Amino acid sequence: MTTHPIELLQAFCTFTTQNSAMSTAKKEFKRVTVKSLVDMKQQGEKISMLTAYDYSMAKIVDNAKVDVILVGDSASNTMAGHETTLPITLDQMIYHAQSVIRAIERALVVVDIPFGSYQSDPKEALKSAIRIMKESGAHAVKLEGGKDIKDSVKRIIRAGIPVMGHLGLTPQSIYKFGTYSVRAKEEAEADQLKKDAKLLEELGCFAIVLEKIPASLATEIAKSVSIPIIGIGAGNGVDGQVLVIHDLLGMTHEFNPRFLRRYMNLYEEMSTAIKQYVTDVKSKDFPNQDEQY
Ligand code: KIV
Repeated sequence: MTTHPIELLQAFCTFTTQNSAMSTAKKEFKRVTVKSLVDMKQQGEKISMLTAYDYSMAKIVDNAKVDVILVGDSASNTMAGHETTLPITLDQMIYHAQSVIRAIERALVVVDIPFGSYQSDPKEALKSAIRIMKESGAHAVKLEGGKDIKDSVKRIIRAGIPVMGHLGLTPQSIYKFGTYSVRAKEEAEADQLKKDAKLLEELGCFAIVLEKIPASLATEIAKSVSIPIIGIGAGNGVDGQVLVIHDLLGMTHEFNPRFLRRYMNLYEEMSTAIKQYVTDVKSKDFPNQDEQY
């Protein structure tokens, strides 16, 4: 007997709701689940999503009531200093996810399956997803791609693991694209994108990230599927937004895409503070009488 993907999604939702009811009673807070996200879409409430890769940052992000924390493979850039997301390993992603999970009380935590850990076959994809869930305690995984990874997505979902899709600009394929410019401006690519979004919905994905595509296309896709569409550089007609936390806080200053709104200039603020510390140490101002035993 085969089970329809939607039934599987409903089963996840029931399971996570029951779990969240238990934890709500104990800890007096509400946990975000995959079902909460679908409810938010239905009620027209926008979903907030941000990356975090470590305990301290995740604690702040969770306390600020961000709905979804993405342990993104952008850790390869922000945390490890690589030019692309390709080098980060499954072990490294699990390490970051473990640190984030220790911090959170409310957010749904989604972890990227890194490049090279799911592309060769569905068995490998499932093994990687299981390692992430088992070793980190994360709540869901994210994979980049549409029809090319269909069997992997199917297999992971059938194992009971919620999957978030990622279409449009998919950074793990950067060497195929050759550039980080806006995707799906041409009709053929836009049509394929629409088909891929429908396919991911049919397979039972609980949400899809759309990265750097025209706003009108993203809006059309968000209206055509029942699962939440989270945009990054995809305009305001989608169901939620995601940004990389280092970009939002202005810790990175060399990356300036049009879609990015910086809420702080932390690079400058941190530099000023650290330079002041150096000055205070050199001048023997720090530590003073009150700062010693
Ligand atoms: O890895 C990441 O940070 C991401 C977001 C840009 C969506 O995939």
